[in-house]
Amino acid sequence: MVKKIRKAVFPVAGMGTRFLPATKANPKEMLPVVDKPLIQYAAEEAEEAGVQSLVFITGRNKRSIPDHFDKAYELESELQEAGKTELLQKVQNVLPADVSCIYLRQAEALGLGHAVLCAEPVVADEPFAVILADDLIRGDDGVGALAQMAAVYERYQCSVILVEEVPAEETAKYGIVEIENDDGETANITSIVEKPKPEDAPSNLAVVGRYILTPRIFDLLKETGRGAGGEIQLTDAIAELLKYEKVRAYRVRGKRYDCGSKLGYLEATVEFGLAHQELGEDFRGYLKTLSDNL
Ligand code: UTP
Repeated sequence: MVKKIRKAVFPVAGMGTRFLPATKANPKEMLPVVDKPLIQYAAEEAEEAGVQSLVFITGRNKRSIPDHFDKAYELESELQEAGKTELLQKVQNVLPADVSCIYLRQAEALGLGHAVLCAEPVVADEPFAVILADDLIRGDDGVGALAQMAAVYERYQCSVILVEEVPAEETAKYGIVEIENDDGETANITSIVEKPKPEDAPSNLAVVGRYILTPRIFDLLKETGRGAGGEIQLTDAIAELLKYEKVRAYRVRGKRYDCGSKLGYLEATVEFGLAHQELGEDFRGYLKTLSDNL
């Protein structure tokens, strides 16, 4: 029987240099898009896909993430006393009761691959998801990216990596895959390389922040030396994994916002603002007035 994806790893120990000074004392995963931090969107996506344990790989300045998911006794009793029940529910429902949070520390930011390896004691021998919360994804028809990928995993029973076409001149920002047997939605990955220059890139299909990985990746990560940027790269371990197992690329049905970059973050803020139940209409009116005066 195919093992279900029950654990999701959230590497949140990066330095977030592109967002300094906002990320000097706060992790970028706590940046809010309208009224929820990025990490909460990611946690909700995992929970919707059936994940029961959220494994956070934290580093310096990441205390606000456990605080966000913990019970907030003082705040809750103040909201209760003030009769603000709607707000109280929002605070209490940050996570469903049957989902647990586990926090592990990455003592030194040695790279995404190293951060994923830190999850081994908790994940052990199960297939698991990796979610990079700064890639915010709105799935089509209300189905989140990870739920879509879990269905692909169940069908093919191998690791699944989310990919997206990017402009050819941007390949050096991403892991880039080469594929075969492309059915327009999924394909077999034949090779993967981290941050290639456009002239060296095997395609313009870039890895974006969602992975479902088999546990063999941990053994391979242990053998992975420093790669692009002097960091231990998850991409390099996946390149090794390809020697042993099939790895499937999947193109998401939905839209991704690169909230690790300022422009992507602003785009997400505008589009999630427009789609917001309470303030979407007013915000649309404001943007119209603004664009008339630009
Ligand atoms: P990024 O490449 O986006 O790096 O990491 P970063 O440090 O977060 O941001 P910039 O580029 O300096 O602005 C990809 C993901 O891997 C995590 C990050 O938190 C992010 O989710 N990461 C990266 C770690 O957890 N540990 C690391 O050592 C490196």
